[in-house]
Amino acid sequence: MKDQAEKLRKLMNTTDSQKKFNNKITSTAKVLAITSGKGGVGKTNFAINLAISIKRLGYNVLVLDADFGLANIEILTGTNIKYTIADCINEGKDIEEIIGDGPEGIKLISGGSGFHELSIMNEENIIKLLKDLKNLESNTDFIIIDTGAGVSKVVLDFVMAANEVFLVTTADPTSVMDGYTMLKTLTINGYRGKLNIVINNVNNRTEAYNTYYKLNRASNSFLKQDITFFGYLEKSNVVSKAVKSQIPFLLSSPKSQISKKINVMALNLVDSKEHNNIQQHSRFTEKLKYLFFGKDDN
Ligand SMILES: Nc1ncnc2c1ncn2[C@@H]1O[C@H](COP(=O)(O)OP(=O)(O)OP(=O)(O)O)[C@@H](O)[C@H]1O
Ligand SMILES: [Mg+2]
Repeated sequence: MKDQAEKLRKLMNTTDSQKKFNNKITSTAKVLAITSGKGGVGKTNFAINLAISIKRLGYNVLVLDADFGLANIEILTGTNIKYTIADCINEGKDIEEIIGDGPEGIKLISGGSGFHELSIMNEENIIKLLKDLKNLESNTDFIIIDTGAGVSKVVLDFVMAANEVFLVTTADPTSVMDGYTMLKTLTINGYRGKLNIVINNVNNRTEAYNTYYKLNRASNSFLKQDITFFGYLEKSNVVSKAVKSQIPFLLSSPKSQISKKINVMALNLVDSKEHNNIQQHSRFTEKLKYLFFGKDDN
């Protein structure tokens, strides 16, 4: 009886998400990686609030904390997730078991020490994780990966496999420089997805655009890499207040300028043609498998 109810729920979920995408036969998550060169530029705040905003638009969203061992997301959302990816790899737990509940129905996975352990894991365990991720990819609309600064090889693989990268920088020249270095790393490794730039913690629009132009000039001249201005967020007390209270600003200050900007960004993302045309997405886990093992046996 319980099994039947579970199956029915799963069926309902599929039907719901199928409604959203006209020609979609099976749902495939769009995977977004939030990264930066320098640390502390606002990645986790951006990731969490964007996730909540996308969820409010009716999509299933999962945030994967790939910031090794720092439990950033749990702190910023006031949640406590029991298990991490390490339990999935070492204890054989299914990925469904390690998913925690975040605010407003977003789902959270804590990386814990798992990303470090992946680099010393045998092929069998990695394959199990990839299989689990593949299932997740089919049941989720958006997977948002929040990385730490200065990513490890394994985390870089996750970023490389993402459909879109969001590089967050402030106007601070060291942050721009480190952001450029991150772009260079992605370019050298052959990243082919969309590279979105988010300028955070700025005083005004002009400062945001000037920062973007600097990055764009360097990227075009030296890397021959196209980047896209995704948006900017101003410096706001609302953010530090939200961090202190461990309630994302979209919930604690829904009418603030910064919350409105996040909502516009979420709308742009879900409206993007690429998302509706699911055929254009290559599957995240397939790319990841290729990056891990250098072969594609499909
Ligand atoms: N738009 C903003 N306005 C004011 N303060 C901000 C803004 N964005 C971020 N901050 C401040 O910067 C701090 C770092 O933010 P956050 O944890 O999101 O950065 P991060 O890039 O995820 O850091 P890490 O690299 O350590 O993971 C926050 O505690 C917050 O106080
Ligand atoms: Mg962070």
